[in-house]
Amino acid sequence: MVVVVVTTEDHLAKVRGRLAELGVDGAQVATPGDARRLLLAEVDDEGVAERVASTLRAGGLSAVARPDGGARLDAWMRHTRPISFGERLSVCFAWSEHDRSELPGLIELGAGGFGSGQHPSTRLVVEQLSERIIGGERVLDVGCGSGVLGLCALRLGASHVVATDIDAGAVEATRRNAALNGMERHLDPALAQLADIDEAFDVVVANIGRAAIVERAPELVERLAPGGWLAVSGISPSQCSQVAGFLRPLEEIDRRTSGEWSMAVFTPRGSAP
Ligand SMILES: C[S@@+](CC[C@H](N)C(=O)[O-])C[C@H]1O[C@@H](n2cnc3c(N)ncnc32)[C@H](O)[C@@H]1O
Repeated sequence: MVVVVVTTEDHLAKVRGRLAELGVDGAQVATPGDARRLLLAEVDDEGVAERVASTLRAGGLSAVARPDGGARLDAWMRHTRPISFGERLSVCFAWSEHDRSELPGLIELGAGGFGSGQHPSTRLVVEQLSERIIGGERVLDVGCGSGVLGLCALRLGASHVVATDIDAGAVEATRRNAALNGMERHLDPALAQLADIDEAFDVVVANIGRAAIVERAPELVERLAPGGWLAVSGISPSQCSQVAGFLRPLEEIDRRTSGEWSMAVFTPRGSAP
C-alpha cells in the first residue's frame, strides 16, 4: 500500500517528520498542481497503512492509504480523476495524483462528508451553479456534506456561503475543505437546522432528498431573497412534481435528470427572466 499525505511546499518537512514519528520513512514528493504537494510512502502491511493514514487524519491532515499496483490501483486512479464542469470549474480529491495544474477553477476535497462531485445529485446542482452564478451572490448550502456545492459557488464568484448540515462530521469536513481551498474567510459552516438560519439568500442549494425537502419546504421558500433561485436535488424523476407542489409559492424554471436522479430550480413567482 501507499500512504498519500496532502500538503504544500512549506509544510513538506513537518509532514515528513510526522510520518517518521509513525515509523514511515522514504516518502517521495509528487507535484500534481502548482500549490499542492503529495507525500507518497510505501508501507508493506495494509492494516498498518490504514492505521497511519487514519492517525494522520485524526491529527488534521488529509491522508489516505491507496493500493500500490494491479487492478485495484487502476480502479483507484480512475476514481480519483479530476472532474471538469465546463470551462469554469473542476473538482478533485486533494490526494489525487493526476496532474491538475491546467484545470480551470479547481476545488480540492479532503476526507469526510458526502459529496465528491461524482454523484449525479451533486453534479446536477454544480452544473446549475456553473451556469447561473454571475458573481457576488450570498449562498445558503443546506446539507453541505463535504461543502462541495458552497465551495464551487465561491470558486465561481459567489461572495459568501453559509453551509449547514445536521451531521457534525459533515460540518467539520466542510470547515477543513474550506481551509484546504483557502476559502475559510468566505464560508461559515454551521451545525444547524434551516429554522435556525434567519437571513435570506440570493442562491439556496439543497441536495437533501425528497423527504427533507418536503418537510422543510416552507423554510426553503422563506430563505430565498427576491430575485434569487433555489436548486433542490436528491429526488427521483417521478418525485419532481410532488416536490414542486410543496414549493408552490415558487415557480419552477428548470428541471434536469441524470439516470435515476433529478434536480429542479425554482425562483419567486414573477422574477424568472
Ligand atoms: C446527499 S448529501 C449532499 C452533500 C452535498 N451537498 C452534495 O451535494 O454532494 C445530503 C446531506 O444533507 C444532510 N441533511 C439531511 N437532512 C438535512 C436537513 N434537514 N438539514 C440540513 N442538512 C441535512 C445530510 O447529513 C448530508 O450531509
